[in-house]
Amino acid sequence: LVDETEVEVFSVPSYACQRRTTLDNHNNVLAHALSLLAENAELEDEDGRGVAFRRAAAVLKALPKPVTSMMQLRGLPCLGDHCLRVIKDILETGTSSEVEATKQSERYKALKVLTGIFGVGAKTAARWIRDGIHTLQQLRDSGHTLNRAQQAGLEHYEDLHQQVTKAEADTIGEIVERAVVSVLPGAQVVLTGGFRRGKLTGHDVDFLITHPVEGREEGLMPKVVSWLESQGFLLYQKTTRNSYLESNDGPARPASNIDRFERCLSIFKLIKEDKHETKQLGKLSENGLETPEDTCSSLTHVQTDPNPATPSCAKGQIHSGEDTGHRLWRAVRVDLVVSPISQFAFALLGWTGSKLFERELRRWAGYEKAMSLSSHALYDNNQSRYLRATSEEEIFAHLGLEYIPPSERNA
Ligand code: GTP
Ligand code: MN
Ligand code: MN
Repeated sequence: LVDETEVEVFSVPSYACQRRTTLDNHNNVLAHALSLLAENAELEDEDGRGVAFRRAAAVLKALPKPVTSMMQLRGLPCLGDHCLRVIKDILETGTSSEVEATKQSERYKALKVLTGIFGVGAKTAARWIRDGIHTLQQLRDSGHTLNRAQQAGLEHYEDLHQQVTKAEADTIGEIVERAVVSVLPGAQVVLTGGFRRGKLTGHDVDFLITHPVEGREEGLMPKVVSWLESQGFLLYQKTTRNSYLESNDGPARPASNIDRFERCLSIFKLIKEDKHETKQLGKLSENGLETPEDTCSSLTHVQTDPNPATPSCAKGQIHSGEDTGHRLWRAVRVDLVVSPISQFAFALLGWTGSKLFERELRRWAGYEKAMSLSSHALYDNNQSRYLRATSEEEIFAHLGLEYIPPSERNA
């Protein structure tokens, strides 16, 4: 018999941005179960419920030991009745009936497949399901009009569902760096997102680009995209201004009348670094990376295709090697962001993640400090002024938070 007074009761701060959350944790099974319920809520376009489950999962990830008894959870933040029921179920029976039922449900499966297409969100998926579409094949057969992103997403579905390795991320980093310094010498590229937090794989690769002289970065993104396109590295790209969450976050973006194109969602054509191929391409590879066109032409002696996104190149047998069973390239999702140096620290913090960590930083700023934080700036509502920062450490200090390094932002 366990004396109740001997049970170790856990305690963690309320906001994920006050906690150190590493990639490894002591409660993977519980956190994973709650994350699945979060995902399901998000798939149902119920973001409020989704965040509640994400916060609960993050609390479990931050605990110093495995949970063995419900009593240990007394007084922990973010664990509502629903979450406690799920945890209790798993502690007592080894699984959660709700999680298992969700995984088996046809609706969850269909929503997951359809939103798994790049360019398809929860609302679109729900609409298609109402039209009786549950699978990729049914979507292809339906004759529904797809936008450009969705067409690319469907075409590269399998590739985009293969995890990207750190080695692939580094190869893409070299290409992006070459593009950036070619069009603007002195510009700098930083790997952000999950890889900056120490993840070994990711669903995409995220880069932040800046130049040490304020203003030099203006107009950079279209030039970088043109360079990459001219070298045949892009299967898809959409360049936009970054308007993510700015509208409901108050004046967190300094006034600017220059409509900057600062964000590019893309799909890269990455040449696979297969030993066999490297041998064949040894000569070409010596002086750095060969472009997709170089590779295609040198291997097959066919005319190069100026546009890699045309069907002949993207799907053709020569390029895909479908008849021989292995292709020489794969599609990889890549996000590029350009920031002026004055906003760089905010952009770096905002694009490093995790998504929940970012959300909690903004919630902390708003509720606890009367400040609004974005990936452009930090505004102090009490002082009615922007707070400058040239490093992430300074931003944490402005927010009255202990500095948390990227590897401990895996909430
Ligand atoms: P994986 O890619 O799955 O490995 O994880 P990740 O953490 O890198 O996720 P993701 O690439 O989706 O996002 C990286 C960071 O960019 C996260 O902190 C997001 O909050 C942030 N992010 C994503 N989309 C936007 C956006 O539109 N604007 C801004 N400012 N940030 C974004
Ligand atoms: Mn990412
Ligand atoms: Mn991303």
